[in-house]
Amino acid sequence: MSGRENFGSRAAVIMAMAGSAIGLGNIWRFPFIVGQYGGAAFILVYILCCFLLSLPILFSESVIGRRTHKNTFGAMEALAPRSSWKWLGLLTVVSPIIILSYYSVVGGWSIEYLFKSVTIQFRPDNAEIVTGMFGEFAASRAKVIACLLLFLGMTAGIVFAGVKKGIERFSKITIPVLFVLVLVIAVYSLTLPGAGEGIRYLVRPDFSKLTPDALAAALGQSFFSLSLGVGTMLTYSSYVSKDENLMASGVGTAVSDLMFAIFAGFAIMPAVFASGIAPAAGPGLVFETLPYIFAKMGTGGLVLSAAVAIIFFITILVAALTSSISMMEVGVAYLSEEKGISRTAATAGIFIFAFMVGILCVLRGSVFDFLDKLCSNFLLTLGALLFSLFVGWKMKKEDVKDELTNGGTLHTNVKLFPIIYFLIKYVAPVSIAVIFISGLVG
Ligand code: PFF
Repeated sequence: MSGRENFGSRAAVIMAMAGSAIGLGNIWRFPFIVGQYGGAAFILVYILCCFLLSLPILFSESVIGRRTHKNTFGAMEALAPRSSWKWLGLLTVVSPIIILSYYSVVGGWSIEYLFKSVTIQFRPDNAEIVTGMFGEFAASRAKVIACLLLFLGMTAGIVFAGVKKGIERFSKITIPVLFVLVLVIAVYSLTLPGAGEGIRYLVRPDFSKLTPDALAAALGQSFFSLSLGVGTMLTYSSYVSKDENLMASGVGTAVSDLMFAIFAGFAIMPAVFASGIAPAAGPGLVFETLPYIFAKMGTGGLVLSAAVAIIFFITILVAALTSSISMMEVGVAYLSEEKGISRTAATAGIFIFAFMVGILCVLRGSVFDFLDKLCSNFLLTLGALLFSLFVGWKMKKEDVKDELTNGGTLHTNVKLFPIIYFLIKYVAPVSIAVIFISGLVG
């Protein structure tokens, strides 16, 4: 225990947590589903989801993590010794490592695409073959695996350096930079001729599209985007000192994540519509549509379009890295604290495991899809539900209050506590269960 590190300041806590939250989810999924499910109407539901359901889960993970200053498994054992809750601790060690495995494959793709941008491979004279480049790249397995290795190597390097010198330092430098970069792209994108249609796609409210599906999408997206239900926020919170205000850092994290997602929407969709292409989500958007747009932009100046492409892929790479380090840290904390393995060996072990599973994902697309569905649709929601049940029903109310109000010394938190506790105990679990079950049935 004595060697355990803490984040250095409130800013460090928010940057690290926001780093985990801000990632591919904000860039390639949020902008698309906003348009698909009714623009501003969906954004409204999404914001409600964030504050009424996701934030209580984030607080729940924070309470468990900071109360115990332990990894997910150790935390469960400390708060509910020798009970079945240890399985929740174990589940949330395993699920982030699984996510790490396939997430890193995508992180690797962004390295290749950064290279392609730097070497100006997206040009007007080859615009027609740019979309096909992704299929070609994906087919060259050795290259994809090499990129995966590089991405995981960077992740392991940062985690290996430690909580303060690695994770905190990296997040503190890169998160502000990410905001600047996404805003630069948004300003550029919004000034393109024809950008208006993209803005309408994002903001025109269409309440008729708010179906139960839209609700499930909002919930799933907000959990994934805030890295909830998989123990990363719990683990990061275990590095938060006792005098930090957990509600303030949680709100800071949620607001940063939300703002980044909205900025990413304005960076991407106006450009997509300006070039007359139908919007999509996922790899197609980032690795086919956007490179095509960068190539076409080249007619207005090759240097400018290359610069935009480079900024864009740096953003993706760094956003993916600040998320992947949080996934790896969960397992490293577990192995080093519970199994007595050194931090170096633990990092190496998870690196190798994630690399192996990642290779499987590269070789078999079906494995990639299966793991993604398993985690995003199932494990994440299950973990989130169980965390809220644990804090709401298993932990003593006074302990939860003590943790969220720093022993009653934070007066605003004391006032807010009854509402937050009600959300954690009743609103979050019931809503998650209903949406989850209707998703399984539907
Ligand atoms: N929040 C990340 C994103 O939006 O891309 C994804 C993520 C990170 C999920 C960490 C789970 C996790 F533990």
